[in-house]
Amino acid sequence: MNAPAKIDLNLPRFASVEELIAREQPDTPVYVLHPEKYHAAAKRFLDAFPGDTLYAIKANPAPHVLDLVYASGIRHFDTASVPEVEYVHSRFPDAHCHFMAPVRSPGAAKLTFEKHGVTDFVVDCDFELDKLLSEVKDAKKLRIFVRIATPLGGAMLELSSKFGTTPADAARLLKRVAGSGAQPAITFHVGSQCLSPFSYAQAIEMARRTSLMAGVTIVALDLGGGFPVTYPGNDVPPYHWYFDTIKEALMTMGQPDLPILCEPGRALIAEGLSVVTQVILRKGDKLYINDGIYGSFDELAITGWTADYPLRAFSLEKGKAVSRPIGQAPFRIYGPTCDTLDVLPRPLMLHENVKAGDYIVFDAMGAYSVALRTNFNGFYPDKWVIVGN
Ligand SMILES: Cc1ncc(COP(=O)(O)O)c(C=O)c1O
Repeated sequence: MNAPAKIDLNLPRFASVEELIAREQPDTPVYVLHPEKYHAAAKRFLDAFPGDTLYAIKANPAPHVLDLVYASGIRHFDTASVPEVEYVHSRFPDAHCHFMAPVRSPGAAKLTFEKHGVTDFVVDCDFELDKLLSEVKDAKKLRIFVRIATPLGGAMLELSSKFGTTPADAARLLKRVAGSGAQPAITFHVGSQCLSPFSYAQAIEMARRTSLMAGVTIVALDLGGGFPVTYPGNDVPPYHWYFDTIKEALMTMGQPDLPILCEPGRALIAEGLSVVTQVILRKGDKLYINDGIYGSFDELAITGWTADYPLRAFSLEKGKAVSRPIGQAPFRIYGPTCDTLDVLPRPLMLHENVKAGDYIVFDAMGAYSVALRTNFNGFYPDKWVIVGN
């Protein structure tokens, strides 16, 4: 594993969340990083995924998180905008950025190719392909991934109605890519929090048929993100099922040396972050806490999202954080802003005597939380600490 180029984890450290609560008695939300969980998540991919693992930084671009991902050995990044590419390169000059968004602002490809050496781009229509080829004249330096849309159903959040095209249209685009002198490749995204390993096999089969239909030998296959995390309410198959299913499906491609990529976001960073929140007010079975939908909890509000975060609850007693049983009574959880919509979509089961001043700790909160927070009403959680090694 390479040594990190720049690691900025100069943060307060605690042995446990209990110690953090007892010593700090925080009255604003606290983001708790668990470094060993970042290392374990990266290791899972670096050890068993049959290709390059790109971190999709959109899932959590916080500098400490990026540093932990990098320190865990990840050197490739799925970036989707000029600022993301600039940010990754300013932090890690030796990192490889891949521009995997199928829609780009005019000039984005030219700038990232010329200034940052980015050579991987994605298209799913003629307009974006024309734009890319007009911005980067030296087409043979480009690896252009045509994105196919995958069937819905295997994942909690589908990502194929906005981007991706049919195999027949992808085959046509692939021929155009090959004809331009660029290197043709295929990508897809089976959807986020994909609970079915078979979705990857199905998508690989679509990629195989697409390249056959085009009569084009592809130079790389990118399996996207979507690898899941265990949340209450979701049954996640063991990880080796994903990698075994993928390896088996790849054998049918007839290209044993084909370079393979994946772009996990959630799977690399969700488990490494907890959020410590405090109850500000209790009114019967309504609890108002100091974080909410406009802060770290946006993902819970997405239609179709049915998972929750693992929970722990604590009260302060004589300066100590005492663990409280959960699962006794349902509470509706409101965020601190004035908006009626600032409410968690499902009640949480907590201790029946929960009160103002108590703490609720949400685990596995790294994905699409920090990245989506706003400062609506002046609330912007941004206090970071480390728990563990
Ligand atoms: C192109 C692309 N790659 C990767 C990801 C990361 O997906 P996940 O967090 O489900 O692994 C996303 C998520 O939106 C995406 O759009």
